[in-house]
Amino acid sequence: MMNKHVSPRDALRQKHQSKAGSTRRQFLKRFGFGVVAGGIPILSGLDDAHSAASETTGRKVKYRTLGKTGLRISEIGFGGHSWAYKQVPDGQGGYRRPTIDEAVRMIAAGIDMGVNFFDSCTALVESSVPGEALKRLKARDRVIVSIRVSHKMKGIKADKQEIYKWTEDRLKLWQTDYVDICLLCNTEKDTPQSGYWDMSYSIEALDKLKQQGKIRFTGFGCHFTPELFLEAFEKFGDYFDICSIPYNVRHRAAEKVLPAAKKKGLGVITIKPFVRGALLKNRDLKGTDAGLPRDLIAFVLENKLIDICTCGVHTIEQVRENLSASWTKLSPGRRERIEKLAGTGIPGREYAWLEQGWRYA
Ligand SMILES: NC(=O)c1ccc[n+]([C@@H]2O[C@H](COP(=O)([O-])OP(=O)(O)OC[C@H]3O[C@@H](n4cnc5c(N)ncnc54)[C@H](OP(=O)(O)O)[C@@H]3O)[C@@H](O)[C@H]2O)c1
Repeated sequence: MMNKHVSPRDALRQKHQSKAGSTRRQFLKRFGFGVVAGGIPILSGLDDAHSAASETTGRKVKYRTLGKTGLRISEIGFGGHSWAYKQVPDGQGGYRRPTIDEAVRMIAAGIDMGVNFFDSCTALVESSVPGEALKRLKARDRVIVSIRVSHKMKGIKADKQEIYKWTEDRLKLWQTDYVDICLLCNTEKDTPQSGYWDMSYSIEALDKLKQQGKIRFTGFGCHFTPELFLEAFEKFGDYFDICSIPYNVRHRAAEKVLPAAKKKGLGVITIKPFVRGALLKNRDLKGTDAGLPRDLIAFVLENKLIDICTCGVHTIEQVRENLSASWTKLSPGRRERIEKLAGTGIPGREYAWLEQGWRYA
């Protein structure tokens, strides 16, 4: 029975936190991993003959506290885009999306290495694929699920219906009765003059969803200009728990706004460490450019005002490499390499408003 002094939000938080402290052995048991002689874990119940867990490194990602939510969050999380993008070679010269079985392997391996944050964006598959994977792994209650509502904050009653519908649809796709985080995000097409900045109805809708126990924490962000972020912190920073900002070695405008976010106690979720893969295209990642993805994430994690770096992954090798950023310090030589790279590889002025020193033309 719920203690009358405990709010629904705190009750949910306690439920989540009490489940978060399990040991690796409990994890393996719960997720259907057996342990064979020699302590090497095997994954049972999946079609894939290989064990996702035996492919992991045995190392764990570190945790940070997500601002005023108090959530302990893995400093590297999995994004949603890679479940939607067709970027896995299909063997016939084309590309396909990762299958559910591949997603299960990647997510199981990630969880085994400590990842507890899963993001999703607009495309339905971004929620349905990890939703199904977490169900198969019986892992929903052990991880933080974040949804993004593509939302223009117009300050009209219809804002409420938009948020209710979007959230209900995502709850079904994630196969869950609550999500931990709901982020209001504008789209790239709205950039740079995005947002209408009347959140009155949006906040009413979020409050109702919180009362119903359907969402725990709320946030906003994504494709705002640095100026709009600062304005948003001022206007809405007391209400929201989290902001989400693109940040990578090329797009460093976030550095200007992070202190203001932290002043409001906001958790900071960063996205796009590789500029959607653009910084890694046409690189010799198995040769002279080896370790580049790890270093690009390590660069983001060096900033202690950031709570988590969210990246897309398409293969189990990418999972292993990206997570190793949590225990690999960026050496001066490797920093120099990525700083040089920052000036290249991105077509035209894409995402230019996120660069340091960017000005309206
Ligand atoms: N509107 C919004 O709110 C919004 C917008 C953007 C992003 N996001 C969130 O932020 C997340 C991260 O952004 P993102 O996925 O666009 O960009 P990203 O993390 O910068 O790039 C992801 C891509 O980089 C490549 N990659 C990743 N690890 C690699 C490795 N070890 N080696 C080589 N290539 C690697 C993969 O592409 P290949 O497999 O093709 O190489 C992958 O799809 C998204 O998934 C999404 O959840 C939200």
